[in-house]
Order: sequence, then structure tokens, then C-alpha cells
Amino acid sequence: NATIFSLIQPTGKFHLGNYLGAVRVWKDITDLKDDGTTLLFGTADLHAITVPKPNAKEFRNYRIEAIASILSIGIDPEKAIVFHQSRVSQHTELHWLLSSLASMGSLNRMTQWKSKSNINDQSDDAALGAIKLGLFSYPVLQAADILLYKSTHVPVGDDQSQHLELTRQLSNTFNKFYKTKYFPMPTTILAPTKKILSLLNPEKKMSKSDTNQNSVIYITDEPEIIAKKIKRAVTDSISDSFYFDPVKRPGISNLINTLSGVQRVSIEDVEKDIAHIKDHKDFKQHVTDVLVEELAPSREQFHRYMKNPDYLHKVSEDGASKAREIAAKNITEIKRIMGFL
Ligand code: TYM
Repeated sequence: NATIFSLIQPTGKFHLGNYLGAVRVWKDITDLKDDGTTLLFGTADLHAITVPKPNAKEFRNYRIEAIASILSIGIDPEKAIVFHQSRVSQHTELHWLLSSLASMGSLNRMTQWKSKSNINDQSDDAALGAIKLGLFSYPVLQAADILLYKSTHVPVGDDQSQHLELTRQLSNTFNKFYKTKYFPMPTTILAPTKKILSLLNPEKKMSKSDTNQNSVIYITDEPEIIAKKIKRAVTDSISDSFYFDPVKRPGISNLINTLSGVQRVSIEDVEKDIAHIKDHKDFKQHVTDVLVEELAPSREQFHRYMKNPDYLHKVSEDGASKAREIAAKNITEIKRIMGFL
């Protein structure tokens, strides 16, 4: 039986990249669910403490907001298990068991700890020495998340491909060493939308941690805020037509890619649709209108859910107890295979 699994870090509100790269895909999958498939979607709150940490009060709020966001996008908690990773202690237990199989070399090749710690020069000993163990072993915890449920499919944005590759490697190493077929080889389900880039620097991905918050559109942004951010988005001075060319026109192409994602049509169809638009102001107005219309229902739902923290708590605790049931059974089997029992 298939198990589809994915998490998101609760480090603030969800942005367009999270939405098109992951969470809307989770919703689509949940809507299609036919019986027999297990769906688990939640927050990677244990991963979230590997980046500059919010204080405890802020963090508590982020975790609640993340559950509200998942529900506000329309994921039905009756069909999918919605939970916080930290509420299922087997994640950290399996992390330790897998860490004995993960080589320093394979973790060293991961790009994320380098970009998150701004390491450009690997001979800078002082900078390397300051990196936290948790940031370095982050992908092992991610592999543990996925393998704990024997997940077969993992819907993510393309920035997670490398971590998924490591997960498959660890699955394979474990199976080979213990002469078992216990862990599946989880398949990456890549979102149909290409990576969403920063509005102000379309060389970089759109990211919550961006120091300039005008580069990020949150799914809860009010229409005026969306309009303001799109107005300021970096484009170019080529006039009279708007077409997709990520090398020569990165800013315009990022907006076209966003339209294609939101409207669920190909890049070519977006180009046809906007062929009549001749100036930048009208183009940006069009992008704003499309985004405002798409995000309004989730924004309203988000505020409604946030008024009911008890309900959000109940959803995530019910989810955690369902997840724990699977996790407890699997970790026992894993420990038996390894000779602990
Ligand atoms: P996180 O919290 O950074 O991002 C959550 C999801 O959003 C996608 N994403 C994007 N997609 C397109 N364009 C962007 N600019 C963009 N930014 C983010 C990510 O690909 C991701 O799917 N390590 C994971 C969390 C995690 C996880 C897991 C995921 C922990 N354990 C197990 C899957 C399975 C992360 O940091 O995602």
C-alpha cells in the first residue's frame, strides 16, 4: 500500500513557493485519495530549530499557524494525518539509528547546510567550526521522517531533491546491511510548478528567511500588500511583450511561472493569455489580480482557524496519535531487524 508523506518547517507563514511547490500539491493528492493510501502531512518543527531560532513564544505561534495554514489550503484532516513531527518521538529515535549508516562524506555533499550557514570557502575553519551538528545532520532526520512510515511517495519542491536522494541511499544501505527489503525506495513527486524565485532577486529561491520581506509573497498577504510587492518586483526594460526566457528575463519569467502554477496551465498557455498586454504596469496588475483571487479563500480560512486554537490543537494531537501508532509499530520492527530486540 502506498504511503504519501511530506513536511514543512513552521518558521513563519507559508509563501507562494511553499504553496505551489508543496502544500497545494498535498491538497490535490488528499482530494484524490482513494482508500488504501495513507497520507501524512505535517510540520517539521524539529528541523525548524536548526536555523536561527525564534524564541519559545514565537515558535509556539509558528507551529499553530502552520497547522492553520495546512487546513486553510483545504487539506481535510479526516483524510490526511496532520501532525507535528516533534509529537512523535520515533522520528528522533530513527534519526539516531540511521545516523550510524550516514557517512560524513555524503552529508558533506549536501548543499543546504552550506547555503544556510553562508559557507563559501570550505577551508575557513572558524566558519566551519561554528556550524551546528543539527544543521549538518538535518538530512538524516529528514530520511528518518520519511522512512519511519515506510513512505513510498514524497511530494516536495525541487530544492528537496538532494535530500530525497540521500533518503533512498540510506534506505538502500540499511536494506543491504541487514539483508532485508524492509524500507521502500521513496519516489520524489516533484510539483508541476518550477521553483518560485525571489521577487527582488530572481537568481535566488523565494524563501521565508530572506532579509528583504518584499521579495516574498505569503499566502496570508492582504490584496494591497500583494499589489505593493508585485509592483516592486524586479523585471526588465524590454517593452511591448511578455514571454518566458529565464536567462534574459528572469524577473518576468518568474512571474510567468507563478501564473502558470496558480492557473494550472502551461507556460505557453500563459504566454498566449498575456499576448495582448503591452506594458509593465498592466502585466503586473494582471499578476496581482490572479494572485489575489487565488489566495483570498485561504487567507480568510486562515484567520477563521486562528480564532480557534483549541480546534487546531485537537487536529494536530489527533494526527500525532494516529502517526504514533504507525511509528511505534515500525520502529519495533526496525529495532528487531537491527538486533535490539
Ligand atoms: P521547507 O519548509 O523549506 O519547504 C516546504 C516545501 O516547500 C517547498 N519550497 C519551494 N518550492 C518551490 N519554490 C520555492 N521557492 C520553495 N521554497 C520551498 C520545498 O521544496 C518543500 O517541499 N526539509 C524540508 C522539510 C522536511 C521534509 C521532511 C519534506 C523535513 N522532513 C520529509 C519532505 C519529507 C524543508 O525544509 O522544507
